[in-house]
Amino acid sequence: MTPLIDVARAAGSPLSDPRGLSTSSPSRDAVEQLERALESMLSYFGDPIALLEQVTAQAPSWAYPRVLLASLFMSFAERGMAGQAADALAGAQGLLAGATVRERAHAAAAQVAVEGDWEAACRLWEGILIEHPRDVAALLFAHLFDFYRGDALNLRRRPQRVLPAWRPDMPLYSYVLGMQAFGLEESGQYPEAEDLGRQALAINQRDPWSVHAVTHVMEMQGRHAEGERWLAGRQADWAVDNGFSYHNWFHAALFEMENLDTAAALAIFDAHLATSTDMALQRVDGTAVLWRLKLLGIDVTERFQKLHAAWQAVPDADGFYAFNDVHAALAALGAGAPMPAVRDAAQATPTERHMANRVGHPLLRALAHYGAGQHADAARELMRVRDHAHEFGGSHAQRDLLTWLVLDAATQAGEHALARHVLNERYPAKQDTPLTAHWLQRLP
Ligand SMILES: [Fe+2]
Repeated sequence: MTPLIDVARAAGSPLSDPRGLSTSSPSRDAVEQLERALESMLSYFGDPIALLEQVTAQAPSWAYPRVLLASLFMSFAERGMAGQAADALAGAQGLLAGATVRERAHAAAAQVAVEGDWEAACRLWEGILIEHPRDVAALLFAHLFDFYRGDALNLRRRPQRVLPAWRPDMPLYSYVLGMQAFGLEESGQYPEAEDLGRQALAINQRDPWSVHAVTHVMEMQGRHAEGERWLAGRQADWAVDNGFSYHNWFHAALFEMENLDTAAALAIFDAHLATSTDMALQRVDGTAVLWRLKLLGIDVTERFQKLHAAWQAVPDADGFYAFNDVHAALAALGAGAPMPAVRDAAQATPTERHMANRVGHPLLRALAHYGAGQHADAARELMRVRDHAHEFGGSHAQRDLLTWLVLDAATQAGEHALARHVLNERYPAKQDTPLTAHWLQRLP
């Protein structure tokens, strides 16, 4: 555990960040540049990678920006970025002797993340937060990996544990509220989540993560018409030149599909998701929208073929994060292409091994049954894994696709009691939506 007072720097004249954390930065300029990079990471406006690289160029002896770059690359949850993370961290190693204890703790967390133990990395970021609750980078990385690990408890509690150390006038405070809002939402505390999300936006309306937290509340509460207006009315704050816009467009498409407006959802896909395929996170959301459209009877085969090609264009991507692998397999299935082979989880990192064994591989087996027209088997396999599928990450709204697949597979298999049983979960929040009516109409 890091000491309360950073002895290594206390003897000198440390340059503190705007929240009072000492750094080993060689200059005030570099601290200010790093602050811009942090805000970019939190807001998704600008290019945080380029900004961190600029700090590194300006202050080449400062290890910390290189360490943050490593964790940032890891936070994209794909193997290609993990290689860049390892490179950034290697560049920091020889500079760590001059780093503060806190900065070295960040390097240790980044190292463990690069090695593939995301749970251990979260413990190390938490160790930083115990001593430095205003370390917003440690909070952000832990929050993102709580999301990837499906750890709703810590999505909620981690921001909760640090918030008493913050004051509303501190720079970047509203982003902490946004993280707390999302954690509350994933924990089912919808009124509290919406309240905090709106508080965050009252301080800083250009905060797509807080917009997203309130969007999730509306999704979970069946407020699809209001959600559509919510996103449409704030597009300037999340949709323009923003690195997270693809995901809020995914939510906009969900609202349209809850209203059975498949034309509007398709238009969103075509305008905002079809060509945003560089990142696995983007391909995941595009795949998920297309599958929902397919299950609503829309022929999206050609779009799936393009998306499948985008998944295929990234070499050696599978076997890193099961959530991505399942979506890549869904794209293949939608395109009518062969399902990807299941990689031996023994070769994977600790995190991947757990997720693949518990969730990824059972889901791939279910999808293979589905693709072969064995709908009863697919429904049975999906039901086995659905209730602990949070272990491979994603949000409740994203994993709801598994429920759509169960409903469709069970209906096609003639297992109407099962379909009705699962459909009951949409009560009471979504009892009266057109989408619920659609699923009911498919049952005798
Ligand atoms: Fe979301």
